[in-house]
Amino acid sequence: MCGIVGYIGKESALDIIIEGLKHLEYRGYDSAGVAFVEKKKIKKIREKGKVDLLKKSIEETKIKVHSAIGHTRWATHGSPTKENTHPHSDCKNKIAIVHNGIIENYLDLKRMLKAKKHKFSSETDTEVIVHLLEENLKHYPIFDSILNTINVLKGSFALLFIFADYPNLMIGIRKNSPLIFAEKENNFYFSSDIVGISSYVDKAYFLDDETIVFLNNSKYSFFDFKGAEKKIFPKKVEKSSFFIEKKGYKHFMLKEIFEQPEAIRETIQDRYSIERGEIDVGVDESLFENIEKIRILSCGTSYHAGLIGQFYFENFSGIETSVSLSSEFYYRDLEDTESTLFIAISQSGETADTLKAIRKIKGKNKIISITNVSESSITRESDAFILTHCGPEISVAATKTFTSQISLLFLLALSIAQKTEYIKKEKIISFLEELRKIPIQMEEILNKSESIEKIAYKYYQKESFLYIGRWINYPVALEGSLKLKEISYIFSEAYAGGQLKHGPISLIDEGTPLVAVAPDDRARNNILSNIEEAKTRGAEIISIGTKGDNELLSLSDAMFVISPVNEFLSPLLTTIYTQLFAYFIALRRGVDIDQPRNLAKSVTVE
Ligand code: G6P
Repeated sequence: MCGIVGYIGKESALDIIIEGLKHLEYRGYDSAGVAFVEKKKIKKIREKGKVDLLKKSIEETKIKVHSAIGHTRWATHGSPTKENTHPHSDCKNKIAIVHNGIIENYLDLKRMLKAKKHKFSSETDTEVIVHLLEENLKHYPIFDSILNTINVLKGSFALLFIFADYPNLMIGIRKNSPLIFAEKENNFYFSSDIVGISSYVDKAYFLDDETIVFLNNSKYSFFDFKGAEKKIFPKKVEKSSFFIEKKGYKHFMLKEIFEQPEAIRETIQDRYSIERGEIDVGVDESLFENIEKIRILSCGTSYHAGLIGQFYFENFSGIETSVSLSSEFYYRDLEDTESTLFIAISQSGETADTLKAIRKIKGKNKIISITNVSESSITRESDAFILTHCGPEISVAATKTFTSQISLLFLLALSIAQKTEYIKKEKIISFLEELRKIPIQMEEILNKSESIEKIAYKYYQKESFLYIGRWINYPVALEGSLKLKEISYIFSEAYAGGQLKHGPISLIDEGTPLVAVAPDDRARNNILSNIEEAKTRGAEIISIGTKGDNELLSLSDAMFVISPVNEFLSPLLTTIYTQLFAYFIALRRGVDIDQPRNLAKSVTVE
């Protein structure tokens, strides 16, 4: 994973790099470092820990340079020590590299380079690249050496190189990991994600896969991996209306939870008209013709959104739908015909497992992706894409992207229904009317956050939790449990309510907390029985139900209520409680909510 930034220009390079790395910290925050040229030598400053520590070290040096590269790391090969922190350099300290991705054949390369007497100072896969380039430079000019180097690398890499002997040269390379290049008034920028540099530029080159950027003395050209020059055109950088600031909230996560009504409004508006009873999600309708099956591919929280979407496609368009974890889909031998439509869901649009899964079926089956990033790898490799308009999500734990994905899946399923006429227009209109009310109903819940805080504080010392839900709220239980474990480090597990008696009920003892997602839907009576079974065995019930459900109230030690809502849309409301519950528990436990240990927001390795 990791984030990389590079800059050459008139401004203070280290300030720009640090600012960029701060914005890329969501990609990993185990350690961070910069490299620049000083007195014809590569100089590195690296720190274990977050970018702020690096910033402090740089400030102490008072160094000012106009060209530098930087890296924020999520450790894959080699533990998060200072030695393993990027940038890495060659034996003579003449070249520095930063890398996002994984070099799969690094052990073979390392063996070969060691035999040629190269000295390694880290356990990383990355370091082989810089030694390999050093080796090539003994025999070839720079450009050929770069081609020779990258063409033997297997895996994924976004790379930046600087050279002690050529202080005006910076080379950026992209293969299977994202990289963006931009220029404004003789200032040149590289970044893994546009958020790293968006405040400085209006246009940017979102590089295609297998692209080299050769930037030398303020002139730049793009090449493919065979060395042929290629044309790439810059695209306008969308400035988001959602700011990357906490805006007075204690954490990004809390801010993003509170942004959900707005994120849903932004995501659904202009995509439907209740007056005309029409939906247009911006996808060519020919993709909706003759669909016999739908397969959804996604990971993590996006997978949970997919599980909810499954019910929309099956119920609104009668199309059998399955949801697979992208990471597991790859290994399956499936005989899908062209009539299977694939839907990839990914907030970042960069998740390596999802990218690999769609590459497996690309060309054979049509793929529609749902992401929050327009120029991401997944959107670019799909036949069509639909964007959630959430603005950047900074907290590692996904919140507003989850509910926005659900709202888009709802609209997409209805637009297929509109095309196939599987359900009547009046029904579609009534669904749209219900959807339009959701942001206001979300706001009602958010306005009660203090009461959720009080209840969460009663439970924050518990060592483990169980979550249950049924039908469309089973994925909400899965997602709620994921939120709790990822940000509070409390062990929790979610089950479909009906499955409790098939094993997990043996975990229930006096005082075991059980969060039951039980709104008034077709599964409500059954889940009440499951709650009853758990309560009888000593569980403390924290329920999420519909206002006026006195039977549920009488079974609950604490109850959160949602307003009556169409049963298909209830996850958009019940989810808010699970997010806030997890947030306040984590807050009380004093952990790093926005950047939980061992995690990263964008998982660009398999
Ligand atoms: C990481 C993030 C999760 C996210 C998952 C899938 O694990 O921490 O929040 O749900 O990746 O990411 P995607 O960008 O594909 O939705």
